[in-house]
Amino acid sequence: MKNQIKYILLALVASAVLSSCSPAKGDRTGHEYMPDMAHSIAYEVQAYQAYRLNTWDSASTFIKKDLSMPMLPVAGTIPRGYTGVFYANASDRAAQLSMLRGGNSLNAIAVPLNGYVPYYYQDTEDERVRASNEIRSNPFPITMDGLARGKELYNIHCGICHGEKGDGGGYLVRDANPAAGDPGGKYPAAPANFLLDTFLVSSNGRFYHAIMYGKNVMGGYKDKLSFEERWEVIHYIRALQAESKKLKYTDWVNELNPEFGVPKAQMDRLAQQVPDASSAPGAANSRQ
Ligand code: HEC
Repeated sequence: MKNQIKYILLALVASAVLSSCSPAKGDRTGHEYMPDMAHSIAYEVQAYQAYRLNTWDSASTFIKKDLSMPMLPVAGTIPRGYTGVFYANASDRAAQLSMLRGGNSLNAIAVPLNGYVPYYYQDTEDERVRASNEIRSNPFPITMDGLARGKELYNIHCGICHGEKGDGGGYLVRDANPAAGDPGGKYPAAPANFLLDTFLVSSNGRFYHAIMYGKNVMGGYKDKLSFEERWEVIHYIRALQAESKKLKYTDWVNELNPEFGVPKAQMDRLAQQVPDASSAPGAANSRQ
């Protein structure tokens, strides 16, 4: 009898102890033996007040629950879908900064000094037309460095279809030449021929929009080319068009169409005419 009571008491104590160990569930951590050693305490940075009940702060020099508040992104963070301006070379920098401050006339697209460049046009046919009508001038001056970079990027990303001369006869679409053992290009659709009149009179916006979204079987290139690179490629396509018409499109002169791009030399002259550019807001401390 005595033994029986002992066992019953033991069973009661054991069940009381075990039932006090409630399991972890939802927001409840439950009770554990030495919990901190089994589970680290992670911050929930995007949640307000997640740590309001924590008591371990008293010994700390900072309040951990304050650190768990939603935080601003690190300075200079570029949101998805936006691109930064990259000053590739020191000699272009002054001209580019002048452009960023609106020193470039011809309804330049304003580029905020922090380099964020949103694109407000959707991937639809109406928006393609709107972009073509509204985006007119190239925000970057024509520079020889820019044209050289544009050429390289064009040959990598566009020339395989649109042709190194811009005539739409790229490597992927070339005709078969059985004599030379060349099976021809495999690309099924005809890429645009930039040397046709329709593209010679098209605004820069038509090109920019095509780079952003592609068109039909052509894919978009906004994730491959930065904001500046897109415009360098467009400058280079303009240079190809000018070449096909025996016209000049350089850092010195643009005989193709003044709307398409401002030669750097011309922009330098424009900048000299701006009387007090150095005292413009933000001029002194612009990002270098
Ligand atoms: C894989 C082949 C291919 C590549 C690479 C390619 N394109 Fe295209 N592109 C096409 C085809 C095909 C069309 C014709 C689409 C249509 O009109 O249906 C086209 C059309 C265009 C047009 C005309 C859009 C319009 O408004 O009619 C432009 C501008 C253009 N491409 C620019 C570029 C640029 C710039 C690049 C490089 C960044 C590039 N493409 C890379 C195949 C390509």
